Amino acid sequence: MSEAYVHGYDPRENERLRDQAGTLVDLLHSDTSYPSGSVVLEAGCGVGAQTVTLARRSPGARFTSIDVSADSLAEAKRKTDAAGFTNVQFQQADICALPFAPESFDHVFVCFVLEHLSRPVEALTILKRVLRPGGTMTVIEGDHGSTYFHPDSSAAHRAIQCLVELQRLAGGNALIGRQLYPLMVETGLEAVHVSPRMVYVDSSRPDLVDGFTRKTFTAMIEGVRKSATDAGLIDPESFDAGVRDLRRTAEPGGVFCYTFFKGVGRKIQE
Ligand SMILES: C[S@@+](CC[C@H](N)C(=O)[O-])C[C@H]1O[C@@H](n2cnc3c(N)ncnc32)[C@H](O)[C@@H]1O
Repeated sequence: MSEAYVHGYDPRENERLRDQAGTLVDLLHSDTSYPSGSVVLEAGCGVGAQTVTLARRSPGARFTSIDVSADSLAEAKRKTDAAGFTNVQFQQADICALPFAPESFDHVFVCFVLEHLSRPVEALTILKRVLRPGGTMTVIEGDHGSTYFHPDSSAAHRAIQCLVELQRLAGGNALIGRQLYPLMVETGLEAVHVSPRMVYVDSSRPDLVDGFTRKTFTAMIEGVRKSATDAGLIDPESFDAGVRDLRRTAEPGGVFCYTFFKGVGRKIQE
């Protein structure tokens, strides 16, 4: 699986992940809550941007949230401690080498992680192993190919394409959202259901203009400027023109659309 994590771990990226999670809570989480007493594995929790929502929406469930990054885990713990949650424990662990017994979780939750892995079905298969029969696996991913906006701009599409290409070079797939259904079926999950979750942003929704178009999506593209130019994918002027045009979609009259995909499947009862 991929070792490189294209977004990195700097504080601005952590802030972006928090803005992303805060803005998208209802869209992504409104139909996720786990019964009291259930034991849930959150794989690749990062700085805990989703963890806080999971813990709040399922106060009676117990979460184990893992990540490979010790720094991210420390930040996630600070956040859940500050929010007063006592139903989450954090553990440094790699999805490829899970330190858990088979069938030890009632549910598994994975958000924005598969896109960074070179063998997503292998990762899902490992996660399925620690899920009890009848338990659910929830997977949320984006798909940068689902991005369209007004005013349209080929420069902006080229800048986005740089991130898609960088992620591909690192072994990941920034277009993975559209593949969730086949990936989850290939993993052997049953009753797989994938729903597209579209974020539509126009000037009448200033919270989304700021929280999503500017601070989530455009910030994510801006974050790969150096890697993209260093890799020779684009020259700095063209990249900056693309980012400028992305920012324009957050000005009055601009419109921005992006689609996330959320899949839920169940481990077959033998
Ligand atoms: C884009 S972040 C998403 C974090 C969080 N799920 C969210 O939605 O904000 C991806 C996270 O996956 C973690 N990750 C990547 N590969 C991993 C692996 N093999 N095992 C565990 N965590 C991994 C990274 O360290 C990073 O924190």
